[in-house]
Amino acid sequence: MKISGNFIRITITLVIMTIPLLIHNTLAGIIPEPVKMENRRGNFRVQGNIELSVPLEHPELVAHGEYLKEYLERIPGVSVTVKRFTEGQSLPDQGILFTLDPAMDKPEGYILEVSSRRIQITGNDAAGVFYGMQSLRQLLPAETEDPIKAAALSRVRVSGVYVEDYPLFSYRGMHLDVARHFFDVEFIKKYLDLMALHKMNTFHWHLTEDQGWRIEIKKYPLLTEIGAWRKETLIGHGSRPPFEFDGQPYGGFYTQDEIREVVAYAAVRHITVIPEIEMPGHATAALAAYPELGCTGGPYEVETRWGVFEDAFCAGDDYTFEFLENVLSEVVELFPSQYIHIGGDECLKNRWEECPKCQERIREEGLADEDELQSYFIRRIEKFLLSKGRNIIGWDEILEGGLAPEATVMSWRGVSGGIEAARMGHDVIMTPVSHCYLDYYQADPATEPLAIGGYLTLRQVYTFNPVPPELNQEEAKHILGGQGNVWTEYIKTTDHLEYMAYPRAIALAEVLWSPRAKQDFESFQKRLQKHFQRLDVIGVNYYK
Ligand code: ACM
Ligand code: ZN
Repeated sequence: MKISGNFIRITITLVIMTIPLLIHNTLAGIIPEPVKMENRRGNFRVQGNIELSVPLEHPELVAHGEYLKEYLERIPGVSVTVKRFTEGQSLPDQGILFTLDPAMDKPEGYILEVSSRRIQITGNDAAGVFYGMQSLRQLLPAETEDPIKAAALSRVRVSGVYVEDYPLFSYRGMHLDVARHFFDVEFIKKYLDLMALHKMNTFHWHLTEDQGWRIEIKKYPLLTEIGAWRKETLIGHGSRPPFEFDGQPYGGFYTQDEIREVVAYAAVRHITVIPEIEMPGHATAALAAYPELGCTGGPYEVETRWGVFEDAFCAGDDYTFEFLENVLSEVVELFPSQYIHIGGDECLKNRWEECPKCQERIREEGLADEDELQSYFIRRIEKFLLSKGRNIIGWDEILEGGLAPEATVMSWRGVSGGIEAARMGHDVIMTPVSHCYLDYYQADPATEPLAIGGYLTLRQVYTFNPVPPELNQEEAKHILGGQGNVWTEYIKTTDHLEYMAYPRAIALAEVLWSPRAKQDFESFQKRLQKHFQRLDVIGVNYYK
């Protein structure tokens, strides 16, 4: 056989033309790394009129179709028609197709298949379809993240791929303290958007503190009229006197309408919002509003410094429980989450020791000491929330004096509280300071903005395994997942907040989603470098 020079030239040209496509494909990383991802032949051109077919039987997917449509229509010349089809009919063989297959039996799981004719996302459930969309989003050019930048795009293609994916843990959380510093609804939505991009599914909203009460409660208007405002704020670390203050009144709160808006916004993104109402400690703002809630009766002021303070809700006075139950009754109306976080951390017992009512409660209930009084407090609140069909989460201090029967423990002072709770058959969320405190320094403090302390690098976050080796298989089932915590004593601005949270939150997202065998820091870093382009377009002030 004679091979012509022309044939060789054409072959070489074709091979060279294919190289960029192959390179694009190998670089097409998704974060978190999927369970399985294979390149496939062909690529899907995102152009002209695209039909996006959604099964008629699953109207919840229509909202997801609209979400993707809005995104794709940023690309010039693209228009997407969301069409409903009946599952009995043969599947549309072109365009974009969403289907559900609960038989997949992987909650939140999905299969994403891209070929030259069709993009198909099959979800175990609606969350799975949503996460398939997030993976697809990461396969599109970063410019699609911004309508103005996307207007310059042309010839957008998605390389052929087969992705099979589901999460390692069911609880993949991000926490935000909006009490030490307040962040408005617009920013909360951006925070939720970033969580969704990385397949995080739980937002732990820390709403009350010594330094501010941030949620409107209709029955107790002073909580926000008085409790949401402090007269000034400490400058610097100020661990000892003399203290220096900025002299600026500071505060803010969310109205119930705003809370509902955030909860609904999160729900579309398959994010559950868990509110935290702190008790019995970290309650000074509430005491400032209603001094009769404290052991001494006050007067109290909303705190202007950081730390742990002696005043707490009085555990001896029934008025405290009446108040908290009324507050929680409004809270459960606003938040459909199964869990309500009741805090429980860092409650000093000095006031209780000196309070006749608290001491009377200890005698009356046959309690051994103030630790058992705290346990009494939490159990009583748990009982109330159980009557509303909800469960409590508390920080690991709720183990002290005896754990409430149905409580889930959030282990933060290391993992030992979590281990103890799991061994007792309680569910656990791991958020140890060693891996999950995103308010800690991420680099040399000398070169970083002032932070609370600690040292937690991206690499260290990436080594996080919520399941401690001490637990056997049965106990390990109680570890629901993990969470990044963002405490904001030293974080005043949204830029600074993003700088502390990102990219460490992305490392957490990957270790909570991807199979352990697929977790590889070098691979993560490579994908992250590319992913930064997307964060740039979105406008995230991440740490580089
Ligand atoms: C905590 O960091 N005090 C839960
Ligand atoms: Zn008391």
